[in-house]
Amino acid sequence: MILAPMQGLTEVLFRRVYEECFPGAITSAVAPFIALTRNLRFSTDNAQIADVLPENNAGSIPVIPQILGKESDEFITLSNRLYDLGYNEINWNMGCPMRAIAAKHRGSGILPYPDEVRAILDKIIPAMKPSLSVKVRLGLKDKNDIFRLVPVLNDYPLASVTIHPRLGRQQYTGQPDLDTFDEVLPLLKPPVIYNGDILTAADARRIQERFPQVADLMIGRGVLYNPLLPLEIENSEMEIDDLAAATGHFIQRLMEEIMLRMPTDESRIRKTKEYWCLFWKSLPITEMQAREVLRESDLQTVIKKISYFSVRKDTLPNR
Ligand SMILES: Cc1cc2nc3c(=O)[nH]c(=O)nc-3n(C[C@H](O)[C@H](O)[C@H](O)COP(=O)(O)O)c2cc1C
Repeated sequence: MILAPMQGLTEVLFRRVYEECFPGAITSAVAPFIALTRNLRFSTDNAQIADVLPENNAGSIPVIPQILGKESDEFITLSNRLYDLGYNEINWNMGCPMRAIAAKHRGSGILPYPDEVRAILDKIIPAMKPSLSVKVRLGLKDKNDIFRLVPVLNDYPLASVTIHPRLGRQQYTGQPDLDTFDEVLPLLKPPVIYNGDILTAADARRIQERFPQVADLMIGRGVLYNPLLPLEIENSEMEIDDLAAATGHFIQRLMEEIMLRMPTDESRIRKTKEYWCLFWKSLPITEMQAREVLRESDLQTVIKKISYFSVRKDTLPNR
């Protein structure tokens, strides 16, 4: 099981606490993207670079760095630099739906242009020391993009192709298009990883049963709504009480790390609330109680309330 990259959420702070609390539950994590820029500074000043530096990743879920952009020379330089730091696979982001990014043929914006993809792969693959995997959607505005792209992808020794079966312009609305995914799957030569809307163990089982050829599952929001999801997918016989306690402990540890690592009270409170918006759903509390935390503006009160809610076990988890 692979943790999906989520900018602002699955950074190293999260990956380290997750691995500490649930060692081995997730086998690897694609890191949130590093955006290519003309003079990319390879230093800790750049938060996206700092996120994958090995010295910051001790104890983290094993990481695959991801690159967003289409500048071949910079792509090669950055990948080879990352290889020298110990990364033998780099993931190319061809799925980001943000309009400003897609408008520049980056992320999902490159999906309608298979010739551009070919030109980039022709240049980068022979010059890259690490292997390359890609993460795509079905298209930008048209699902036929993927059918024009597949023959291009098949011409290169890609480590894997992760498919999130939505269009870029859908962002995260609507349902994943499993019928189109079904059509694309047998056409692709590299191993295919499925990504999208796996929120329960039953969702994972449905995908595994319908698509036995899928090499692995990548999960994003599901892990953030319920950090135990990967464990539930592997072994559905855990005790409810243990589940609630494990989730509470994980949230507590995440908060401690936020207090330690974030530089100001303002950033600590923002980060804590960002995670809380997602995680409260895995605790035995109501939405009204969850909102109590969001209304608070004093850091100590926020922490106190989250601690209180995280150790409650009096009702069943909310799923
Ligand atoms: C807040 C947020 C940030 C994301 N950041 C990235 C990213 O940096 N790189 C990427 O390839 N996908 C990114 N995604 C997409 C996710 O990796 C994933 O494809 C998407 O959430 C669907 O999977 P899920 O339903 O399991 O969450 C992001 C999604 C969200 C909601």
